[in-house]
Amino acid sequence: GTPASKSDVMITLVVDGIEVTVPEGTSVMRASAEAGIQVPKLCATDSLEAFGSCRLCVVEIEGRRGTPASCTTPVTDGMVVHTQSNKVRKIRKGVMELYISDHPLDCLTCAANGDCELQDMAGAVGLRDVRYEAPEGGALANHFEARNTSGEANPEWLPKDDSNPYFTYDPAKCIVCNRCVRACEEVQGTFALTIDGRGFDSRVSAGSFGDDFLNSDCVSCGACVQACPTATLQEKSVIELGTPERSVVTTCAYCGVGCSFKAE
Ligand code: FES
Repeated sequence: GTPASKSDVMITLVVDGIEVTVPEGTSVMRASAEAGIQVPKLCATDSLEAFGSCRLCVVEIEGRRGTPASCTTPVTDGMVVHTQSNKVRKIRKGVMELYISDHPLDCLTCAANGDCELQDMAGAVGLRDVRYEAPEGGALANHFEARNTSGEANPEWLPKDDSNPYFTYDPAKCIVCNRCVRACEEVQGTFALTIDGRGFDSRVSAGSFGDDFLNSDCVSCGACVQACPTATLQEKSVIELGTPERSVVTTCAYCGVGCSFKAE
């Protein structure tokens, strides 16, 4: 869910009828996990600071208005949380529907097939249909067609960036969860990645405008690839050879020993 809190002050709350006691500063998402409840998520991880961008982890909290993101909401004493109400299930399904409506549906031939959090979460929220197909010939329809029948990015989008010797970056599959940007900053301290643009046009960018990964400040540490929940950032060896039966988890491109670091 989200990083553990180190506080010695303990807080007790109730999640879906289960009482749980966690350190002060713990997120509602992590407290839910402590109670055995996995709240759907896309932008949160166990090691990166919570960002609250994907809106998949919304919950209801008694006495509070709205549906806050559980990854960015800290617990308070006596809090009563509902993670499975009809309201939040409906919101999550709607959010997932929007993500999938703007995502190539080439799952069977995608290098991340079977190891894709977007795919997992679509199943977890019960998404079976996507209603959003724009009128034929419209900009969104072209967008949808181009990216769902062939798996290729819409021509208006940046093409795949193959410049890095170890991994590729495919903007068409990016859900802008910011995990790669945060991994680059928090794990590597490099600040090579940023989010350019706003709304529908927002996208991950390596360095200043026009830079590809090879010509950016990227040091090929691989933290961003480990953090990516889709096939947006994908190791070239996985694309070419398939998923290995055994693998070493490392963020260092220069050494195969494996330091056991994992961004997720
Ligand atoms: Fe909480 Fe994305 S996991 S907003």
